[in-house]
Amino acid sequence: MADINKMTDWDKLKRMIEDSSLDDKSQDVSESKMLAFLAARIKGQDEILKDVAKLVRLSWRKKERNRPVCSLLLMGPTGTGKTELAKCLAEYLFGSDRDMLRFDCSELSNPDMAKSRLTGSSSGFVGSESGGQLTRPMMANPKRLVLFDEIEKAHPLVFDLLLQVLGDGRLTEQSSGKVADFTQAIVVLTSNAIADEAAKATHGMKDYHEILNALKTLLSESKMFRPEILGRIDKVYQFKPLQGMVVAEIATLKIARLARDYGLDVEFVAPELLVQALEANHKVSKFGIRELERILFDLFAPSLAEMRDKRVKAVSFDVDDEGKVVCKAK
Ligand SMILES: Nc1ncnc2c1ncn2[C@@H]1O[C@H](COP(=O)(O)OP(=O)(O)OP(=O)(O)O)[C@@H](O)[C@H]1O
Ligand SMILES: [Mg+2]
Repeated sequence: MADINKMTDWDKLKRMIEDSSLDDKSQDVSESKMLAFLAARIKGQDEILKDVAKLVRLSWRKKERNRPVCSLLLMGPTGTGKTELAKCLAEYLFGSDRDMLRFDCSELSNPDMAKSRLTGSSSGFVGSESGGQLTRPMMANPKRLVLFDEIEKAHPLVFDLLLQVLGDGRLTEQSSGKVADFTQAIVVLTSNAIADEAAKATHGMKDYHEILNALKTLLSESKMFRPEILGRIDKVYQFKPLQGMVVAEIATLKIARLARDYGLDVEFVAPELLVQALEANHKVSKFGIRELERILFDLFAPSLAEMRDKRVKAVSFDVDDEGKVVCKAK
């Protein structure tokens, strides 16, 4: 009989299997790998990313759970990375952000419509057989990230449904009476309703727990959330306004991504051009970068398209005396 101990390089095999998708790793999330993934995409919010990675790792390992893996409330100015964080989490933990369920709560302000949209129409009514847009996909695949944007705009009834989701990890479909499971899901709520007050209340604070306490006090005073809902949210994070250098870093990431869409690599971008883009962005949005992508597109896409037609592989962006883009093939 052959000695199987010698039949292969077992150490190497072990490492390869650990790195592959062969074993079910649903019980295990590497905090450092997850943090590296998030940090490559989200800039200027390092403390939040660290805390999220830790929270998810600890909760993911639990054997039994009767609530979602975690529930997060992300607050802060527009265009600072709240939705982006939700997408990155979905991609890292569930393989893609395509299965992420996203609800715009401004569309959930009417109680009857909100309830039937999320949990299906009462049986016998039109559309009751297709079920709820929240419950039905959850029944099909409970491993998902569920995002409620602009949560402050939702009708209080939506909060009652959320209470069941966050408190019991389940929600009953109105149309069929079947129960959707949320114990493998991540629930993210975002809000920029009290961004200004929150920024003022936490101004100058460095300690993360101090910030959290100030936010929780503010939230309960603002009456936006009933205390029982607030009590069931694992973490509240205040996203910081993005500073100049951070926006510059994001801009270079976005230029690289834009160029890749044209099949090109970018070797260099003149700082003058980045400052131009940042100034244009600052004019339209002081704290965030909602418009940055459009600004970069207007600035760089024409040359990228031209270079692509010339079958160039890599480019650099310089600037002429008038501050115009000069694109050179590399
Ligand atoms: N901190 C950040 N790091 C990297 N990219 C960012 C960051 N913040 C925003 N972006 C980019 O800007 C765009 C808008 O960001 P995002 O959708 O996350 O904003 P938001 O905070 O959810 O704003 P809103 O409150 O208006 O929904 C995204 O395409 C994202 O790529
Ligand atoms: Mg958003």
